[in-house]
Amino acid sequence: MGQLEGKVILITGGARGQGAAEARQCAAAGADVWVTDLLVADGEKVAADIGGHFLEQDVTNESLWNEVIDEIVVTSGSLDGLVNNAGIFKIVPMTQTTLDDYRRITEINQTGVFLGMRAAAKQMVAQQSGSIVNISSIAGLSGAASAFAYGASKWAVRGMTKSAAQELGPSNVRVNSIHPGIIETEMLQQFDVLGPDIRDRLTANIPLGRTGAAEEVSEVVFFLLSDSSRYCTGHEFVVDGGMRA
Ligand SMILES: NC(=O)c1ccc[n+]([C@@H]2O[C@H](COP(=O)([O-])OP(=O)(O)OC[C@H]3O[C@@H](n4cnc5c(N)ncnc54)[C@H](O)[C@@H]3O)[C@@H](O)[C@H]2O)c1
Repeated sequence: MGQLEGKVILITGGARGQGAAEARQCAAAGADVWVTDLLVADGEKVAADIGGHFLEQDVTNESLWNEVIDEIVVTSGSLDGLVNNAGIFKIVPMTQTTLDDYRRITEINQTGVFLGMRAAAKQMVAQQSGSIVNISSIAGLSGAASAFAYGASKWAVRGMTKSAAQELGPSNVRVNSIHPGIIETEMLQQFDVLGPDIRDRLTANIPLGRTGAAEEVSEVVFFLLSDSSRYCTGHEFVVDGGMRA
């Protein structure tokens, strides 16, 4: 029997990258996996490959959050795990950040996580069980001069995680944040604006000497969704090859 057998798990931004890796790993461990994303064709393909479900969702849409959770609970009977994984990244320092950029990045990376936690908590508190995993970043652990709004949004995710963990702990709902370093997904293409040697420069700062794979983050997400982490809540789990050690 898989470690996540019987658990119903929702992963936002699961059409590709880390979200898709998380979906594959959870499904392989027996979970009933729901993937949501803006990318319909990619999301449907991931869901079909793992025998899961796909729903089109923009995480910034408040009313859609309730519809998504309702559909999951009506179809699958519960909601045991939520991974707030959807996010965007943009290289732009504070002095060049437009208000539009700032609002767009925080709307998806920060407000989307708040809406997701709030919608899921309603169901999880009623069940008296659940695990919420918020994907922050190492940019939520220290300054991020080249990605100001992104860093702000990921610090907010870290803080919201702790407040939500304190609020929901008495209802047996756990909330933790994951802080990936440099992970090989399409998001890394944003670094190209920093010059052709940027990958070498980034790797030089990683004690393990290489960038990470999406599966190396999903292993930790998996742990936090599983009962193996049943006494962990309100904390940061860093997956960065030692970059912020
Ligand atoms: N790749 C890295 O190096 C890295 C490092 C630290 C943190 N992260 C975080 O990990 C998470 C996953 O990123 P990834 O590396 O897999 O990148 P990715 O770009 O491959 O995946 C992000 C996914 O989120 C979806 N998405 C974006 N906006 C959305 C919205 N409004 N509603 C629904 N879905 C939306 C995208 O369509 C995409 O499928 C993000 O939160 C990102 O900030 C990534």
